[in-house]
Amino acid sequence: MPALEHETSSAVTHAAVMLRETVELLRPRSGGRYVDGTLGGGGHAQAILEASGPHGELLGIDWDEEARARAAARLARFGARVHIVDAVFDQIGECLERFGWEAVDGILLDLGVSSFHLDLADRGFSFARSGPLDMRMSRSRARALSQWLDEVSEPELVRVLREYGEEPQARRIARAILAARRRGELADTAALAALVSRIAGRSAARHPATRTFQALRIAVNGELEILERFLADAYRWLRPGGRLVVLAYHSLEDRLVKSAFRLWERSCVCSRGIPVCRCGWAAKVTLLTRRAIRPSGSEVAENPRARSARLRAVERLAA
Ligand SMILES: C[S@@+](CC[C@H](N)C(=O)[O-])C[C@H]1O[C@@H](n2cnc3c(N)ncnc32)[C@H](O)[C@@H]1O
Repeated sequence: MPALEHETSSAVTHAAVMLRETVELLRPRSGGRYVDGTLGGGGHAQAILEASGPHGELLGIDWDEEARARAAARLARFGARVHIVDAVFDQIGECLERFGWEAVDGILLDLGVSSFHLDLADRGFSFARSGPLDMRMSRSRARALSQWLDEVSEPELVRVLREYGEEPQARRIARAILAARRRGELADTAALAALVSRIAGRSAARHPATRTFQALRIAVNGELEILERFLADAYRWLRPGGRLVVLAYHSLEDRLVKSAFRLWERSCVCSRGIPVCRCGWAAKVTLLTRRAIRPSGSEVAENPRARSARLRAVERLAA
């Protein structure tokens, strides 16, 4: 189905996931400075600005032009309290420097793609709509899926499908994709979805190409590598008492967040068996969520895209 014929991009919206829980954890206050590292359509950002009125400021980062334009329109009424930048969230340090902010009171990451990315056929994320093999969130930073597929080796494609998609048929699907690509038969997302559906097992719960599309999107956009770089030392951008809140939708993302938070929480990182601490490490944060918070049943019923969300948060300790 040529979806975009009757679907204008501004008609598709994104419902902010776990909005109340996120804002409660961030605890915005007037005069506070906040970073939304994944601004998207600006749903969470709007709530942060409302809760931090009249003087709170928000720096919104998004690498997708369309997201920035949507958020700018939505947040225009907050005037000079909002700053929107085109960057990758692991460049947060440079972004803060640009505004002369040393550290902030809160950082939010709501990972992954926006609903409008998935719903707009021309972005190539959807197995339900025919579109180009693209899947880039930032069109100026990554290789489109078509080029990525032309350059990837078979073992690497198998790894991506297995690790990022947990696809049991990873090897067969990878082989079939690369063979079809060589024959010039894989022109768009509809052809890719049809090919994967012929191989992947049927499941009543979801489309057979779900795992493959998710895995390819994560690989094309380098999503896990960026998150890992951000998590190397993101606590340093928080003021004492400042909070980092992360919403993850994929178990690998959530695992990265969980282990970074656990490491930052430790007061010593010496290996076991060393009698006296020599590492000089001190706890950087306190955990606000021992276990990930999950969306309520009613939220999932209203917005099925929230179903895999896991929310975790930490608070920076004084140095
Ligand atoms: C799930 S959406 C955020 C939705 C937003 N919280 C809202 O309420 O509308 C994620 C957004 O983050 C952006 N994004 C994802 N990874 C990014 C990265 N590494 N750097 C910058 N932006 C990123 C995507 O382009 C997308 O617009």
